[in-house]
Amino acid sequence: MSVSRVALHEQGPTFSRLIMGYWRLMEWQLSPAALLDLMKYHLDLGVTTLDHADIYGGYQCEEAFGKALRLEPSLRARMEIVSKCGIALTAKPEHALNHYNTGKAHIIASAENSLRKLGTDYLDLLLIHRPDPLMDADEVADAFITLRQAGKIKHAGVSNFSARQFELLQSRLPFPLVTNQLEISPLNQSTTLDGTLDQCQQLRIKPMAWSCLGGGRLFNGQEYAPLRAELEQIRHEVGAQHIEQLVYAWVMMLPSQPLPLIGSGKRERIAAAVAAESIVLNRQQWFRIRKAALGYDVP
Ligand SMILES: NC(=O)c1ccc[n+]([C@@H]2O[C@H](COP(=O)([O-])OP(=O)(O)OC[C@H]3O[C@@H](n4cnc5c(N)ncnc54)[C@H](OP(=O)(O)O)[C@@H]3O)[C@@H](O)[C@H]2O)c1
Repeated sequence: MSVSRVALHEQGPTFSRLIMGYWRLMEWQLSPAALLDLMKYHLDLGVTTLDHADIYGGYQCEEAFGKALRLEPSLRARMEIVSKCGIALTAKPEHALNHYNTGKAHIIASAENSLRKLGTDYLDLLLIHRPDPLMDADEVADAFITLRQAGKIKHAGVSNFSARQFELLQSRLPFPLVTNQLEISPLNQSTTLDGTLDQCQQLRIKPMAWSCLGGGRLFNGQEYAPLRAELEQIRHEVGAQHIEQLVYAWVMMLPSQPLPLIGSGKRERIAAAVAAESIVLNRQQWFRIRKAALGYDVP
């Protein structure tokens, strides 16, 4: 069992079809050696792309990851590392409040800091984490160009951008933004119809999909009981093992071909996500999941 590989854009990069999300790394409470084992586990499954951000774990995740990678630096050649910047949290004393900073100096300093912490000399992809009302597209473009020319990032992209914001930043760049990392889930279906995924399809770039399982909300609470019941029914119909596999299949069936991020550090859940690649839903099953999550039919 190994996941396939896909190009986000015709000019690259090529990533694993499912991506390991490292947001919750500090919750997993792993020693560097145990984290190294986990990395090898998902790399061996073909999950070679890893998603980080400067702020994850209150600015601690990248450093914890780097400690593990330094135990076996040759693993770097087997992986593609994504990181993000542009959010400034009060976890740093110099930030009086949580805010966004997409100024050139901040982007460059944040990317260089990520490199130091992760223990690598390049990022495969750097994303602007969230749209910033004070974003000056020329400055962001300047930062991306500078980092790319220095070989510190191979590609650039965005996250949580509207189609219009994406278009604005792209208009200032001599190379393509290769992804928009978006929340894509039956539990949050706004991106399926707000133009962001249409834009990815139009530009032939692949989105990355975060919180496919609603950050775990899928499994809790009365609100999603009808969705769980429908997923359970479809699980029997397609012969899947776990209901979350239907959710990953639902996301991957979107024609923009999103790459789901795996949020769990548990081996059996990573393996289940990987196995979801071979599950094929028919159109009516896709719409049954849509309806069960929304609670209403198509108009
Ligand atoms: N760009 C952005 O703005 C943005 C925002 C959020 C996240 N992200 C990225 O997306 C990645 C994934 O996001 P996410 O962590 O929210 O993903 P998710 O898969 O929606 O949620 C993961 C959570 O669901 C729980 N879970 C998974 N399978 C379960 C099961 N079978 N039963 C019960 N609970 C289960 C996990 O618990 P266990 O740990 O116990 O398995 C974990 O707490 C992050 O790591 C990050 O890289 C990006």
